[in-house]
Amino acid sequence: MGKKIKITINGETVEIVKGTSILEAANQAGVIIPTLCYHKDLCVAGNCRVCVVEIAGQKRLAPACATPCDEGMDVLTNTLKVRNSRKHIIELLLSEHNADCTNCYKNGGCELQKLASEYKIMNQDFIHLVPFRNYTIDMFSPSIIKDDSKCIRCQRCVRTCAELQGVNALTMSYKGEHAKITTFFEKAMNDVVCTNCGQCINHCPTGALVEKNYIEEVWSAISDKTKYVVVQTAPAVRVGLGEELGFEPGARVTGKMVAALKRLGFDAVMDTDFTADLTIMEEGTELLTRLKGALVDKNPDIKLPMATSCSPGWIKFIEHMYPSLLDHLSSCKSPQQMFGALVKTYYAKARNIDPEKIVSVSIMPCTAKKFEAARPEMHDSGYRDVDYVLTTRELAIMIKQAGIDFMKLKDAHYDRLMGESTGAGVIFGATGGVMEAALRTAYELVTGRDVPFENLKILPVRGMEGVKEASIKIENPLEKWSFLDGVELNCAIAHGLVNAKKVMDSIVAGTSHYHFIEFMACPGGCLGGGGQPIPTNPEIRARRTEAIYAEDEGMPMRKSHLNPEITKIYKDFLIAPLGDRRINKINTKYTPRKRY
Ligand code: SF4
Ligand code: SF4
Ligand code: SF4
Ligand code: FES
Repeated sequence: MGKKIKITINGETVEIVKGTSILEAANQAGVIIPTLCYHKDLCVAGNCRVCVVEIAGQKRLAPACATPCDEGMDVLTNTLKVRNSRKHIIELLLSEHNADCTNCYKNGGCELQKLASEYKIMNQDFIHLVPFRNYTIDMFSPSIIKDDSKCIRCQRCVRTCAELQGVNALTMSYKGEHAKITTFFEKAMNDVVCTNCGQCINHCPTGALVEKNYIEEVWSAISDKTKYVVVQTAPAVRVGLGEELGFEPGARVTGKMVAALKRLGFDAVMDTDFTADLTIMEEGTELLTRLKGALVDKNPDIKLPMATSCSPGWIKFIEHMYPSLLDHLSSCKSPQQMFGALVKTYYAKARNIDPEKIVSVSIMPCTAKKFEAARPEMHDSGYRDVDYVLTTRELAIMIKQAGIDFMKLKDAHYDRLMGESTGAGVIFGATGGVMEAALRTAYELVTGRDVPFENLKILPVRGMEGVKEASIKIENPLEKWSFLDGVELNCAIAHGLVNAKKVMDSIVAGTSHYHFIEFMACPGGCLGGGGQPIPTNPEIRARRTEAIYAEDEGMPMRKSHLNPEITKIYKDFLIAPLGDRRINKINTKYTPRKRY
């Protein structure tokens, strides 16, 4: 803890740690200062100047986000000069802004609109420049729409892509009034290194970056009586959706969400957690097979460490940035795509439904899942495996459009066959969750005993550190796995692509000692995904994380191999983990891409 100092804000004395910004000090004192370029996840840019305050003895107004407090500082946040300055900045931004709010996807959730409303910007003192500008709207990506006419050049997206993701797909180009956010040679977002993670969407204050939404397509499918519309819900949606519908961050709304989906008219409501459990069976078996190949057979072609393949943002990242290391990826499809392939094969057969009539919808915390579902390799069922991907935010929009009073809904249960899951499936939604779920099952399958952690909580893999490490020593394994006796299984977990990069660079450098690595593209894992409610910041992600682990502890089964629907699918369809790939359709390979 640093040295404490005293300042005054609007005449009130505030005690804070030296070095705290005026913005943070004001927040602690309950004084709200408006911001646009500032975001808790990002470094301070100080470029919008909407947060200006007066400091006694200084002629110029100071940006609160970029000014550290000094002993005895006397700050005024609500003088005529401050209010006029902020109002002018908002007016200037609006003069070159296509402020067609009623036709804007961000209407009602836009920080610029909120400020314009608070400051009652009713007349236009500056020349309206919009008709003279040649704005571009990029709609080529299946995940993201980039509309330059809504951009205020705050550069949150640029910092997000560089600082959180290490991708640098976006940059600020040109100067002065021509300045704009661009990609490499102004190519479409779909043609550059962008991973579709959607973190820039979550951090954009306006409608300049939004998800491509498929709400109308899903409504059409639901109202088409010849179609059988199946929906799956990802683990992290249940701890985020409530935020869009009146609940505090960290509210668990699983039962209400299922009830809402049934009221929306889906024919079957099932759970991606089921295929998360299936992923553990497949991926765990693949890891053990690779370990045997490397340790016993001494096969030089076996690639270790093995990397998880659940996160489509991470997959596109490795395809662009480390194409020569693609063989390190597990061959398992993501739980979304396993579900999609199985719903039009296994489920269709079991329920005697023509797969041609099935429309497969997923609700995901993720915009990259839209791109993943559209990949040409994801047609193993003979059809497109997942037809439409909606984010948590899009589901909330549908619930509101349908006039459902979400708060009053009674809990409902998932439908059977692909709706049963365990706590291990739920924790896929948090960073470290796939690793924890895999270790719970793999350790037990190899030794016949529970993992040596109290109440199955593998604490070293939990938490928000960017790169986490864990080792687990295998002792006294069952006869079949005797080659693993005494082996220390070294694992790592990276979330946020900037952290994935650090781990991948260690593999390239030959200094990695890991056997198994979990990679998630988004900070905090899927619960911090680019399709989750906005805002998202460290505190909100922490509350969603607590909710995920609480959900796990409340489940009657907490290990994937105990899921009775998993036992059934192996008995009736898949036969065995890593079984006949011509039949099971749940494995895949990925493609090297260029680094534009
Ligand atoms: S970005 Fe915000 S201010 Fe601009 S049109 Fe959309 S809602 Fe309105
Ligand atoms: S796209 Fe959004 S985040 Fe990026 S500069 Fe424009 S307004 Fe800011
Ligand atoms: S979607 Fe992700 S990778 Fe693409 S520009 Fe946005 S932050 Fe960068
Ligand atoms: S929020 Fe402080 S300068 Fe933009």
